[in-house]
Amino acid sequence: MSQHLKNITLKIWRQVGPSDRGRFESYLVPEISDEASFLEMLDLLNEQLISEGKEAVVFDHDCREGICGTCSLMIDGQAHGPQKGTATCQLHMRKFESNDTIVIEPWRASAFPIIKDLMVDRAPLDRIVEAGGFITAETGGAPDANLIPIPKPVADASMDAAECIGCGACVAACPNGAANLFTGAKMAHLNLLPQGQAERFQRAEAMVETMDEHFGSCTNHGECEAACPKSISIDVIALLNADYLKAKFKNRKNLSRI
Ligand code: FES
Repeated sequence: MSQHLKNITLKIWRQVGPSDRGRFESYLVPEISDEASFLEMLDLLNEQLISEGKEAVVFDHDCREGICGTCSLMIDGQAHGPQKGTATCQLHMRKFESNDTIVIEPWRASAFPIIKDLMVDRAPLDRIVEAGGFITAETGGAPDANLIPIPKPVADASMDAAECIGCGACVAACPNGAANLFTGAKMAHLNLLPQGQAERFQRAEAMVETMDEHFGSCTNHGECEAACPKSISIDVIALLNADYLKAKFKNRKNLSRI
């Protein structure tokens, strides 16, 4: 066998549906290449299972290039696995040793019920964005880029927050199941820019209160930042807290509409 091929044992969470108790099952994936991505390795496992007449493992994926936020696996207890700043779909088997046993679980958070096997329902994240993660102004055609000057550090901070792909790793990694990093990122990329100012405080109040309906409370563990595949800084949580506090004064006095 080439030294670039590995035998890997997988302990995978299998669960028939939301009300099933679920259990781990072990599978051997032989001679997997270093060059294979983690999801390609699961594809090979599924081909193996199907050829044996067994049911394939259900897992979420789409773009497979770190953009869509669909992939969502807890790998050896770490959201998206052992490589910092990397989504599951961009993780490769070269990160693992031959004869390793890898434990694969779905996101574990009460806000994310398991649909089947490794797939969870992340709709509560969509509810937060629906509450205010947009601007309502009709923007028409694209304006000239220099029409509204924006300081470079502000534009950079906004774009850094806009990198959030909404995968939910922050929630899965947080001991409280909090979604403050996600919500902070979705607020910050709008609230930092001139185009986001008109609805800034309605947005802050609506998004934070929708978040609180579904998720736990942030107690500054910082696990979210460590798990984020886009390395989004917990600075966005500071901005979320500051804007929410201001919103409770401004919105109460109806000043934001003046
Ligand atoms: S599959 Fe799209 S980010 Fe991983």
